[in-house]
Amino acid sequence: MPDPVLRIHELTRHFMEGERRRVVLDGASAEVGRGEFVVLLGPSGSGKSTLLNLVSGIDTPDGGWVEIDGVRLTTLNERERTLFRRTHVGFVFQFFNLLPTLTVEENLLLPLELKGRLDGAARARARELLETVGLGDRGGSFPDRLSGGEQQRVALARALVHEPALILADEPTGNLDPATGGRVLDLLDTLVREAGRTLLAVTHSRELAAHADRVLRIEGGRLVEGMP
Ligand SMILES: Nc1ncnc2c1ncn2[C@@H]1O[C@H](COP(=O)(O)OP(=O)(O)OP(=O)(O)O)[C@@H](O)[C@H]1O
Ligand SMILES: [Mg+2]
Repeated sequence: MPDPVLRIHELTRHFMEGERRRVVLDGASAEVGRGEFVVLLGPSGSGKSTLLNLVSGIDTPDGGWVEIDGVRLTTLNERERTLFRRTHVGFVFQFFNLLPTLTVEENLLLPLELKGRLDGAARARARELLETVGLGDRGGSFPDRLSGGEQQRVALARALVHEPALILADEPTGNLDPATGGRVLDLLDTLVREAGRTLLAVTHSRELAAHADRVLRIEGGRLVEGMP
């Protein structure tokens, strides 16, 4: 691959459940090129969220490594990984992770505020993103006043507002009706096709998978290419 923005090398990760050791990732490897739209498939419990947490540096592997833009995450300490994530990665979580005490707009602007990049242009971009996900009039609402699908769309907008090179999304259309899901898909598609971003998205949706350049699957703790 000419210019991989993401390299995943022989990742292993296990969890202990009492005395029992559950190996979730067992030598997972893959590369994702700049500007690629890659979908990650796998049954529930196969390790998709575990893999995204390792790729984003939220979690650390037992073995193997992840490289983003040439930076190997295992060489960074936790603070450095957090700072790196704030500038390079946008993460749409499976369970939203919106802060309940902040309004929708404040949630959106938080990643920029943390980076000290909160200016007029950033506020305008945040409002534009809210419009795009169909929530232009909800900037002042608190997350607990929104439906699950609306929270999902705020989480998506928040992951994009700092214009990260690599976007990780865990079921970005999972809680959405077909029409809204279609809008979110179009937004993701535009970001990759026109803004040159790279997207790794976990999904069970065939429609989302049909938009992808490539499909990766988790099988037996490893990554394999292509549809089943
Ligand atoms: N922090 C943890 N402690 C213990 N076990 C964990 C932890 N995180 C994940 N697991 C286990 O690892 C396995 C993979 O979980 P993961 O969340 O990655 O699955 P997934 O593929 O994202 O599934 P889903 O499609 O349901 O979201 C599961 O069996 C889960 O119980
Ligand atoms: Mg998951």
